[in-house]
Amino acid sequence: MTMPRARITGTGSYLPEKRVTNHDLARMVETSDAWIRERTGIVERRMAAEGETTSDLATQAARNALEAADLKVGDLDLILTATTTPDLIFPSTATIVQHKLGGSTSRMPAFDIQAVCSGFIYALSIADQFIRTRACQRVLVIGAETLSRILDWNDRGTCILFGDGAGAVVLEADKDGKRGILSTHLHADGSQADLLYTSGGVSKGNLGTIRMLGNEVFKQAVRALEGSVDECLEANGLTKEQIDWLVPHQANIRIIQNTARRLGMPMERVAVTVERHGNTSAASVPLALDEVVRAGRIQPGHRVLMVAFGGGFTWGSALVRW
Ligand code: UT7
Repeated sequence: MTMPRARITGTGSYLPEKRVTNHDLARMVETSDAWIRERTGIVERRMAAEGETTSDLATQAARNALEAADLKVGDLDLILTATTTPDLIFPSTATIVQHKLGGSTSRMPAFDIQAVCSGFIYALSIADQFIRTRACQRVLVIGAETLSRILDWNDRGTCILFGDGAGAVVLEADKDGKRGILSTHLHADGSQADLLYTSGGVSKGNLGTIRMLGNEVFKQAVRALEGSVDECLEANGLTKEQIDWLVPHQANIRIIQNTARRLGMPMERVAVTVERHGNTSAASVPLALDEVVRAGRIQPGHRVLMVAFGGGFTWGSALVRW
């Protein structure tokens, strides 16, 4: 019997209304629009309104993905939310989203994944396991963040980089086993946590803010993403030319360009949103994916490679046959 594959049948995203430009930030810390553009590619990012939470953004993105898949929340067997900025310590953001979508009466399981900027790739991999083992037929995977809540607005090395937003996909079992997730590869290395972390947490007794040694993280990200590309190609027996689309984590345009070079991929076939969204951590890959899918640029049969790197360190890839 052919093993079912997890096929993405709908994508969605949501961005809060408020835009924060580089010029806005230059009024708050010693920086400039020119520096931020040149070093990161970012021009503006979005910020959640007061009282607007991660689950609010996640719910909107999920609604859009469900609509695109032509499904109702009651059709789902599982909801996964990748986030580093949950509404509450508990219950999980995924259960809050389940209720906001009107799905609590269906009682499908729902839980959160915490792998920082790689969270969406981790969640996709988990959804894939549930579908391939036939435990689930339809899974909603969301990446959603309100990183603006954990930024130190006096630290120019970090506050210029991040933004808020949410992206989501609906995965369904494809019985032919031809289309869908072809592979996922996940990695973590906890030995370098001091390069990218928050200065607090629940058991530390304070919320904390993001701390990062940017240039060291940059080097590690470049290396890990190159390794992820090579690992994915080798595992699938594919050449670079057989990849149609790259949908990378959106941390820095220079990191994205480097990953594209590794694949010999022209930038026209790379999903880039970093200039308008900044780094939205777990939301960045599904936000970028939704944009190219809705623009009709990803077509059935295309091989789409998603890669991410983030705090932990965590990193990984997911290859999808659309
Ligand atoms: O999503 C998880 C993964 N995260 C990432 O991948 C982020 C990776 N890191 C980066 O994207 C880049 O390292 C940054 C954009 C954070 C920084 O760019 P950089 O080219 O690595 O700069 P740098 O940290 O080496 O700093 C160069 C200079 C320093 O000044 P001095 O020491 O040369 O006088 C910084 O103090 O730039 C200064 N600087 C700034 N200047 C203006 C740092 N931040 C700013 C700023 N505006 N916002």
